[in-house]
Amino acid sequence: MKTKMTEAFRKYEGGLFSEVTKADVSVSISSLEKEGIDLLAWADPFYPDPSTPPHVIEAMVKAIKEGGANHYTHPIGNEELRIRISKKLKEYNNIDANPHRNIMITPGSDSGLYFAMLPFISSGDEVMIPDPSYPNNFQNVEIMGGKVVPVPLKEEYHYQININDFEDRLTSRTKMIVLTNPNNPTTTVFTRRSLEALAQFAIENDLIVIVDQAFEFPVFDGREMVTLASLEGMWERTVTVFSTSKGMGLSGFRVAYIVAEDHIMDTYYGSAVSVVGATNTFSQIGAIAAFDNDEYTKEMEASFLRRRDMVCKILGGIPGVHVEKPESGFLSWVNISKLGSGEFITDYLKRNAKVIVNSGGHYGEQGKGYIRIVQGALADEERLENALRRIGNALIELADNKGITNF
Ligand SMILES: Cc1ncc(COP(=O)(O)O)c(C=O)c1O
Repeated sequence: MKTKMTEAFRKYEGGLFSEVTKADVSVSISSLEKEGIDLLAWADPFYPDPSTPPHVIEAMVKAIKEGGANHYTHPIGNEELRIRISKKLKEYNNIDANPHRNIMITPGSDSGLYFAMLPFISSGDEVMIPDPSYPNNFQNVEIMGGKVVPVPLKEEYHYQININDFEDRLTSRTKMIVLTNPNNPTTTVFTRRSLEALAQFAIENDLIVIVDQAFEFPVFDGREMVTLASLEGMWERTVTVFSTSKGMGLSGFRVAYIVAEDHIMDTYYGSAVSVVGATNTFSQIGAIAAFDNDEYTKEMEASFLRRRDMVCKILGGIPGVHVEKPESGFLSWVNISKLGSGEFITDYLKRNAKVIVNSGGHYGEQGKGYIRIVQGALADEERLENALRRIGNALIELADNKGITNF
């Protein structure tokens, strides 16, 4: 029967018939944990330790006890939550979104991103995606029958947008750009200059832009977080997808939101039941409590900052290793190309440091000589430091064995 699937889907393997090395299948994760391996490979704040803010728990428990939480919420999402989000969009994103026309709640931004792209992609449409980038961006386009056009982001430009690289790849089939801002895995916060250049390019060539802002806070060192849809001429051609999973630490709640102008949103509203059904009722009530009182995110930010500095201190200066100082969030993008490929180093660290990190090749061709480390994992910073030191010591030993003395 599998031969009856579309070619795009058929090639994916879930690991039932082969060993899966990716860390996103539950069976393999639990067995790794039993072996005492620390998983620094899931972009999930403080995973796997409990970290739900008490006032959020209280709101959800109350909703469950009062009854009604077992019922559907309207497919476009809880109205009160949409109103809270419109306030946040005004204050943080410089976007004036009508909660009844421009916002839709989705069960996480993974499904939100899929839904955001779905109405636009027909077979053969070309979609420009910065490389390296969040792997789902590539996969979504492929399974919708579109053609991925990777646009390299270069370390020498600190992974900012070089618009010539987009212009060089433009064809009559180019329809869309998918941008993750701040970028996963590089943590790059795109500058106003980068985004203005991209906006001009999109307007001149009549392109639709999907922007994933799952990592929009925190950003570090006083950087400006610019929402592309707020730039002149972009509201009508940008669909922005936000999430409560990262900076708000509510990944298990599966609450995200799509923001778009009326005509685009009208299509999402009209097809919401078919595509997403509805988002979990009591999770949305928990999310309202989190938006109402988000003081706890300040502690998260302070912790992410300490963790960033910890990574730079422990891995900076190791021969053959270059850590670009993370600009946002809780990830690190580490150039290990002098020591080996991302695949090789990931496997080496699993065996020698008992830590799982991500191989950079998952994020595109440009990522092959890199690894991604999720320093936001684990609640206990001492345990994290210990895991990072094991990574550092293993890499020092490898560099030593290879006779590498500088970067
Ligand atoms: C860049 C980016 N976007 C979106 C997501 C999906 O997040 P969620 O579905 O939890 O909102 C992730 C998850 O890792 C991510 O890294």
